[in-house]
Amino acid sequence: MGKIVIAIDGQSGCGKSSTAKAVAKILGYTYLDSGAMYRAVALHHLNHPFELTDQGSVQKALNQVKISFQQNPKTGKQETYLNGQNVEDEIREMKVSQNVSKVAAIREIREAMVAQQRALGEAKGVVMDGRDIGSVVFPNAELKIFMTANLHTRARRRLEELSSMGNVTTLEEIKENLAERDRLDSSREESPLRKMPDAIEVDTSHLQFEDQVNQVVQLAREKIEKV
Ligand code: DC
Repeated sequence: MGKIVIAIDGQSGCGKSSTAKAVAKILGYTYLDSGAMYRAVALHHLNHPFELTDQGSVQKALNQVKISFQQNPKTGKQETYLNGQNVEDEIREMKVSQNVSKVAAIREIREAMVAQQRALGEAKGVVMDGRDIGSVVFPNAELKIFMTANLHTRARRRLEELSSMGNVTTLEEIKENLAERDRLDSSREESPLRKMPDAIEVDTSHLQFEDQVNQVVQLAREKIEKV
């Protein structure tokens, strides 16, 4: 049986990454979190500020950024590394969430990330989540999912996730951040978030987690049978 590429795009906090991870596990595929890469660059930008509007500075910064993923042998969880340092928890913090959309809007940064994402997904058998996976990174992906959920549900889920990681924040602060990121990610010039005509929309507002995972797995199996 052949392997396919599964692209999952959608707004911030709609359940893309947890769904993508679970789907990858069931299918024995590799999960790739493209947002983590933009978050790692945003963290680098916070620690070593550079002028986002100056191509030379951006290029220089990109040359100093090496992003990789490693599986934690204890938890089995995939973790993000920036220049050899484990930044998995730090890139989820609010300071990064508040900085990431403007970093992700820069063309040179996107080009560098997209090249790396394509290389990571070359062998197929991957589930990648993000904003432009079905439109730019893998326009020929065999399965494209466009996930949605209403703002309140997304904020509530993100609050639970952050609280379980020990981060202190409020529902209101999260709502504001999600709405602002939606606005920036959908209105930017470079690869804005949009639903591709061949993407299947999955609204998770009223779905149980298991059901949304099963829906995607079912759709994937239908595609896998055909390759
Ligand atoms: O999926 P996430 O919330 O961790 O992504 C963080 C930010 O990165 C998000 O606000 C938009 C940006 N992003 C992007 O522009 N393109 C992607 N493929 C993934 C994320």
